[in-house]
Amino acid sequence: MSVPIHGNYHGYYSKRPSVNDPRLDTLPRELFSKKRVLDVGCNEGWVSCEVAQSFGAGKVVGVDIDDTLVRAAWRRRLQVWSTQGPVPELSVAKPVPEDGDGDGDEPSSQRGLGHATKKRKAKSKKPVLNYFPASFEHTFGSLPIPPSHIRGKDVFPHNVLFRTADWVEEDIVEDKDGYDVVLAFSISKWIHLNSGDEGLKKFFAKVHRVLKVGGSFVLEPQAWDTYKKAKRMDKTLKDNAQKLKLRPEDFEGILMEMGFGAKKSFGEIGEGGFCRPVDLYVKLR
Ligand SMILES: C[S@@+](CC[C@H](N)C(=O)[O-])C[C@H]1O[C@@H](n2cnc3c(N)ncnc32)[C@H](O)[C@@H]1O
Repeated sequence: MSVPIHGNYHGYYSKRPSVNDPRLDTLPRELFSKKRVLDVGCNEGWVSCEVAQSFGAGKVVGVDIDDTLVRAAWRRRLQVWSTQGPVPELSVAKPVPEDGDGDGDEPSSQRGLGHATKKRKAKSKKPVLNYFPASFEHTFGSLPIPPSHIRGKDVFPHNVLFRTADWVEEDIVEDKDGYDVVLAFSISKWIHLNSGDEGLKKFFAKVHRVLKVGGSFVLEPQAWDTYKKAKRMDKTLKDNAQKLKLRPEDFEGILMEMGFGAKKSFGEIGEGGFCRPVDLYVKLR
């Protein structure tokens, strides 16, 4: 296997416990409710799926530079869906009148459908997590995903998708509509070591550009002393590291100059080597 110079570790979540991710648990739930969220460096998609399934996000986009990880993220989506409990409205077809069910929220394409085909959307129901054991999927295959016009576009699993891109250098199609929240968990070191001080500033500037005013940038930076191990991985990273002038302590100042407010710190979260600060910056202008 090639050296994971971008932090593109495979099997990352077997080392880092990430069901009920403590980094997400520390954040206020309203941060995600009905919001458009970008998860930069989504790896195998565990965080993105959790935000989409359990935090009420309207849409979650996970982006990663490594296509193998992105394919694993799509599989993760299907695995998580396959262990989720049945949604009552979907398991029992409820007839509704021809002229709508009274809540007026069905898309016009659904209005006027007959009793036999029309079902209530399952939007408001909280999912029951881990209802089926993971082994069921191995034995019986994945559960089919109901179409989005029945299940709802803004509920799991329709509210999460994944893209492959070096997000510092390339835009993805979802960027043009902007985001309410950008998550950057354990990625700043990798961008810093591969693209230098300028690359890291470019990353921060892009986060600023795609966030709506009032939106939140959630950053989990790795400490400077953890750069050492990464430098030993690869000669280019080592050479690049020698030219770095910025340190993680400088990030707040750079972000404030770009138009973010002062850092709101949620403390150091996680266990052992994964105990890192989780910081939130609001885009003010
Ligand atoms: C150490 S992992 C962290 C995964 C995840 N964010 C978490 O903390 O649970 C860093 C991830 O960032 C991705 N990555 C690094 N540079 C990237 C870039 N320029 N664009 C997109 N993804 C990148 C890597 O492929 C890797 O999956």
